[in-house]
Amino acid sequence: GDVFTYDPGFTSTASCDSTITFIDGDKGELLYRGYPIDQLAEKSHYLEVCYLLLYGELPTEAEQIDFESRVTNHTMVHEQMIKFFSGFRRDAHPMAIITGVVGAMSAFYHDSTDVNDPWQREVAAIRMIAKLPTICAMAFKYSVGQPFVYPKNDLDYASNFLRMCFAVPCEEYEVNPILSKAMDRIFTLHADHEQNASTSTVRLAGSSGANPFACIAAGIACLWGPAHGGANQACLEMLREIGTVDRIPEYVARAKDKNDPFRLMGFGHRVYKNFDPRAKVMKESADEVLGLLGIEDNETLKVAKELERIALEDPYFVEKKLYPNVDFYSGIILEAMGFPTSMFTPIFALSRTVGWISQWKEMLGDPNQKIGRPRQLYLGATTRDYVDVSKR
Ligand code: CMC
Repeated sequence: GDVFTYDPGFTSTASCDSTITFIDGDKGELLYRGYPIDQLAEKSHYLEVCYLLLYGELPTEAEQIDFESRVTNHTMVHEQMIKFFSGFRRDAHPMAIITGVVGAMSAFYHDSTDVNDPWQREVAAIRMIAKLPTICAMAFKYSVGQPFVYPKNDLDYASNFLRMCFAVPCEEYEVNPILSKAMDRIFTLHADHEQNASTSTVRLAGSSGANPFACIAAGIACLWGPAHGGANQACLEMLREIGTVDRIPEYVARAKDKNDPFRLMGFGHRVYKNFDPRAKVMKESADEVLGLLGIEDNETLKVAKELERIALEDPYFVEKKLYPNVDFYSGIILEAMGFPTSMFTPIFALSRTVGWISQWKEMLGDPNQKIGRPRQLYLGATTRDYVDVSKR
């Protein structure tokens, strides 16, 4: 029969070629289009990074102004979309809501989205980047029972998102520039990460020629799991559960116990066998934000730092090369901003949307593009004859 390699979990299979993101897992290096993530986190801002991921180069000033105005043009969602939200229970997880609502956008933009037309792919990409913050903020407002706040397009991307989440009608709302900068940095740090599970999901879904909004909904669904994007929520909940520094050894012992399924959330990575460079920036950002907000005495941050210190000295974590990942410190910043843990993964999803859509565009622009179709190692029964129910 056919010859193929067996690689469960795709630990050694490259599924595509790509020019977008580079990771050196041993060095702990992450580049977007060649630019190191720490430089981008410090000097750039999210919409510029979006441009870079989508088009391959940093924009000129004129290109940047044009791109930002194209994005802000599409921040509103169709008024009929509001009805989708009311179909969900109040306590629905926002990830369930955004998976549904983004999937439903395929119905709004089906006839106008011909995936074979590069211009229509471009419009779909801009729509997605523009609307995800609005949809995530609506999911948040729905969960707290407050009216939706519409986008205000003279604000930057991160400030607009914070305002849609935290402003209430009839009251003034000033976006705190410290929070807006920290939010923008979180978006930048999550913008792309080569062929991770959700990105591979988007590529696989897209390889059949499916509607891009449906493909992104598939990516959001994949991201939700605690081994992937859901780790940011799980990590903060774990840190809260640990509660005080004296209880850390108990949890470290559990993480090492083969008979206990418990893992240290926010630790370990398939590709990084060294510090996750995003976690380094996130840690500095957590210190800075909590300091500027005057809450550096935060107990959760203390537990996180001490847990990191203990784990990094423990032979189990050292031998397995388990380091803090991007999700380890992000939750502390998001909590300080006022987000409930259920909003952490939606914020990851909205940040990653540009990565998903850039990878989707790259794939469809490739003249050798084919439908993704993995094979399997069949271990089931060999051929046998059907037995009538009376004889079983
Ligand atoms: N705590 C304790 N032990 C761990 C952990 C951990 N967090 N992560 C891995 N291990 C152990 C694991 O038990 C295994 O041991 P052994 O070889 O003795 O069986 C070994 O390390 C290798 O683990 P693996 O599960 O085979 O490795 P993987 O590459 O399949 O998994 C991972 C990577 C990220 C799913 C895993 O490290 C994990 O579950 N981490 C916790 C969840 C998490 O933080 N996820 C976020 C990842 S980064 C952002 C994102 O992707 O969204």
